[in-house]
Amino acid sequence: MIIGVAGLGTMGLGIVQTYAQAGFSVLATDAHGPARGSALARLAAALAPRVAKGAMTDEARDALLARVTVIDSADQFAPAALIIEAIVERLDAKQALFTALAAAAPEAVLATNTSSIPVHQIAAGLARPERLLGLHFFNPAPVMKLVELIGPVGCDPQALALARQVTEAAGKTVINAPDRPGFIVNRCARPFYGEALALLEEGRSPGEIDAAMQAAGYRLGPFALIDLIGADINLAATEGLSAAMGGHPRYHVFAALRAQVAAGALGAKTGRGFTFKGEAAPVPPDAASIVARIEAALVNEACWLLSEGGVTRDGIDTALKLGLNFPRGPFGMLDHHGAATIRATLAALEAATSLKGRYAPAPELAA
Ligand SMILES: NC(=O)c1ccc[n+]([C@@H]2O[C@H](COP(=O)([O-])OP(=O)(O)OC[C@H]3O[C@@H](n4cnc5c(N)ncnc54)[C@H](O)[C@@H]3O)[C@@H](O)[C@H]2O)c1
Repeated sequence: MIIGVAGLGTMGLGIVQTYAQAGFSVLATDAHGPARGSALARLAAALAPRVAKGAMTDEARDALLARVTVIDSADQFAPAALIIEAIVERLDAKQALFTALAAAAPEAVLATNTSSIPVHQIAAGLARPERLLGLHFFNPAPVMKLVELIGPVGCDPQALALARQVTEAAGKTVINAPDRPGFIVNRCARPFYGEALALLEEGRSPGEIDAAMQAAGYRLGPFALIDLIGADINLAATEGLSAAMGGHPRYHVFAALRAQVAAGALGAKTGRGFTFKGEAAPVPPDAASIVARIEAALVNEACWLLSEGGVTRDGIDTALKLGLNFPRGPFGMLDHHGAATIRATLAALEAATSLKGRYAPAPELAA
């Protein structure tokens, strides 16, 4: 089976590698000539560390590269059974591309890797909108196991089945996600950062908050994770979700995050961030209450998402464990703390906050 990939930037190239290393033939293109011209060399460079440490032979690398054909334009995608788009995050650009792809390959299943645009909006205007679905990979695509599969209302079940089958064959764990803002991971992750930023604004330090979370089994604390991904990316994701959710206080954009971006302290990419101030902080004496607070907010967000439909408890837990490296998913946290404790924690937070409604419990948590 032939897979198509449109867009050969960070994600597109990673998606090409994902399918090609699983044995699929891949057709790939980019609107930008130099991105097409350099694609195979960039792919070879991405594989070089594995070849160097003996995890991949020269022959396997060459065979993988031989399975990838860079084409000049979308017109040449006709042989592809599934075409995945990973171009610029703009609705008009994606719609124009999918119109061209639908004309070039009328029988192909079309998929978008969008992070933030509702999939049904991208599909609107296509002659056969039911052929378009979301396949949301995480960065770096060849490494991250999780892929969120988004089937908007009316999506063709056979299209969804094909996308799932080939993506699982490429070694991914595919989780059904609703066509709701942020899908699962980008939405359910918000409280991890949001509660940490709330604590920061209340006078706690990034070091002690991260230390508390790490002591509870999290590989990285919220601030280290912001620094790894980039405060600018985190701010854009938070602002995008806040706007998409009508400015609900659960998605409040904290001034501390805005200030960090304004100061250019974006994390790893600028060498300055929340956590780049020196040695790791000791675990604070009240670490358990920091963890309980952040986890209560994580549980509540997951319960709100669950109440909106299109997703299961297991799906959410798996998505957060694989997408964020969490030691347990929100429903694992709910089992651990118990609904009564979560309700009490949320009630205390609601009583103390000026962001009224931020901690209103989801129906799932009702006594
Ligand atoms: N970077 C991430 O962490 C991440 C994670 C998940 C999803 N996404 C989504 O994946 C998509 C791509 O993101 P990225 O980070 O790879 O971006 P990128 O800027 O690295 O790459 C985008 C590529 O698309 C090309 N392009 C632009 N318009 C095009 C068009 N009309 N036709 C063909 N190619 C075109 C550009 O030349 C560029 O090479 C976006 O929708 C983004 O939201 C990104």
